[in-house]
Amino acid sequence: MIVLGIETSCDETGVGIVRLEPGAAPTLLANEIASSVEQHARFGGVVPEVASRAHLQAIVPAVHRALTTAGIRPADVSAVAVTAGPGLTGALLVGVAAAKAYAAAWEVPLYGVNHLSAHVAVDTLEHGPLPPCVALLVSGGHSSLLDVPDLAGPVTPLGATIDDAAGEAFDKVARLLGLPFPGGPHIDRVARAGDPGAVAFPRGLTGPRDAAFDFSFSGLKTAVARHVEALQRAGTPVPVPDVAASFQEAVVDVLTAKAVRAARERGMDTLLLGGGVAANSRLRALAQQRCATAGITMRVPRPGLCTDNGAMVAALGAHLLAGNAQPSPLDLPADSSLPVTEILVGQPVTR
Ligand code: KG4
Ligand code: ZN
Repeated sequence: MIVLGIETSCDETGVGIVRLEPGAAPTLLANEIASSVEQHARFGGVVPEVASRAHLQAIVPAVHRALTTAGIRPADVSAVAVTAGPGLTGALLVGVAAAKAYAAAWEVPLYGVNHLSAHVAVDTLEHGPLPPCVALLVSGGHSSLLDVPDLAGPVTPLGATIDDAAGEAFDKVARLLGLPFPGGPHIDRVARAGDPGAVAFPRGLTGPRDAAFDFSFSGLKTAVARHVEALQRAGTPVPVPDVAASFQEAVVDVLTAKAVRAARERGMDTLLLGGGVAANSRLRALAQQRCATAGITMRVPRPGLCTDNGAMVAALGAHLLAGNAQPSPLDLPADSSLPVTEILVGQPVTR
């Protein structure tokens, strides 16, 4: 069976195709991505209307390219999966409308799925079936810790950011340091030449009375801004690599400490990382080190599958199809604030 997945929740138009063999994890056949990131760069953030228009132009060619890359015909597709939320409403609507049209025209089931669960499911394409785990999902729009007993749900939210998402903090700090948008990959790169101990930036929500599994990055972002302003006032050049490395260390220190603690407290021996920020080289290295010390297995997809893509949606769709989940109705809505507990829209999955 073959599942086609469509992702349009933010600025990437992603179309992925996976093949599902009975009893095995799905295999990746195609993963086409058209990004509108360059159109947003001058605004320093994603402009929803610009993203929606770019999705509209990119979606049909991306589906054609994915079918060609996979070497299949529309008649070979057994189901269509699509991100139904969370994300930007106008952007989601393009993918949901396209997925409905393809599902109706090809007469196959439609699965409207949760973007966060898709970030978890994508790991099965590289590392096979996923055991019960704690997932740390960190991207431009979300930072969450989840207890995931099974990909098809239900999941238990353990904590989330109370202000900025981790990727948002990377993007805002990059801007302060004069680095291009989106800033995460640039901070990752310049930080390699910096000293992570150069500036002792605050670790948000790590006091004894703070929520153990929630995150806060806005205080850190302000601390970086104050530090940079003070240097500029004094006429001292900003040591960009040192500030980037110290900021990055503050983020990944908190993320990994809380994630490992969550896995321990939930009695899970697997920690999964997902979302765009999981592409960060320092996050991957520190999480690996701390998991090894705690006797926990770390799983993280390759960086190209951590950022938004269609393969992750197809992977989750394949898992739902394999579990005989009821498809979503054709009047499936796009839900910009879809709760993390709702994995398949329209048909709550009972275990
Ligand atoms: O998952 P994603 O592609 O889109 C959302 O769902 O938001 O994540 C994008 C975010 C951006 O904030 C970007 O700066 C960040 O992921 N990001 C990184 C890295 N690569 C992407 N952050 C830190 N280090 C990276 N290497
Ligand atoms: Zn994402």
